[in-house]
Amino acid sequence: MLPLILPTAVAAEECFDDPPGTVLFPEEEACLVRAVDKRRREFTTVRRCARLALGRLGVAPAPLVPGERGAPSWPAQVVGSMTHCVGYRAAAVAPASRMWTIGIDAEPAEELPEGVLDSISSADERAHLAALARLRPEVPWERLLFSAKESVYKAWFPLTHRWLGFEEAEVEFDAAAGAFRARILAEDRPVDVFAGRWTIASGIAATAIAVPRTH
Ligand SMILES: CC(C)(COP(=O)(O)OP(=O)(O)OC[C@H]1O[C@@H](n2cnc3c(N)ncnc32)[C@H](O)[C@@H]1OP(=O)(O)O)[C@@H](O)C(=O)NCCC(=O)NCCS
Repeated sequence: MLPLILPTAVAAEECFDDPPGTVLFPEEEACLVRAVDKRRREFTTVRRCARLALGRLGVAPAPLVPGERGAPSWPAQVVGSMTHCVGYRAAAVAPASRMWTIGIDAEPAEELPEGVLDSISSADERAHLAALARLRPEVPWERLLFSAKESVYKAWFPLTHRWLGFEEAEVEFDAAAGAFRARILAEDRPVDVFAGRWTIASGIAATAIAVPRTH
């Protein structure tokens, strides 16, 4: 599903289960010393996805260790993003010569837990979601908003190495086009708007941002 909403210059791989046999590098194993089984599974399978995607770029397998504030450390000249949630894992990578930054996120296509929406959205965004819900009531718009903001953060962080609060991006969805725009409100921003796409399938809500180098 995420591969379908990313440009062709991006190599993306996804997995709906945790196939056995994936071997981690010692540097990656070292990150899992205190990890519970769920964390070991998502960490391992998403790296399997990433290595498959990197292979399509001709990049040899290498350790993918969480770096600054959890951001993955990609091989030189590669940009990318990873996501995992119950029943889904995905990684997307591209040559840095083609893409400036990538952010992907997947979530269960369910309502947000009580109270979360108010902490991740503005009044304008909530009014926008209410209008969308009248148009397409079957879509979990609140969860998609959350996912879009997670994708924004994952695309933002490698560019800035800075935190971005949920109130610092204003998201607007295009229900018919399966697209969204996130206007960045933070000061000293290297980008004004991230354009992204969204999809819902197999009980998963996913969003993706991939900014071409030419932007
Ligand atoms: C970091 C964060 C975005 C991860 O999202 P999530 O939905 O919790 O988890 P996902 O499974 O989708 O993604 C996890 C992956 O994100 C990546 N990631 C973690 N921190 C990251 C960062 N600072 N920058 C880019 N990618 C990051 C990692 O690859 C991680 O997987 P790994 O630990 O196995 O390597 C989220 O936990 C967070 O801190 N959000 C607050 C910031 C935010 O979203 N602001 C809104 C801006 S509008």
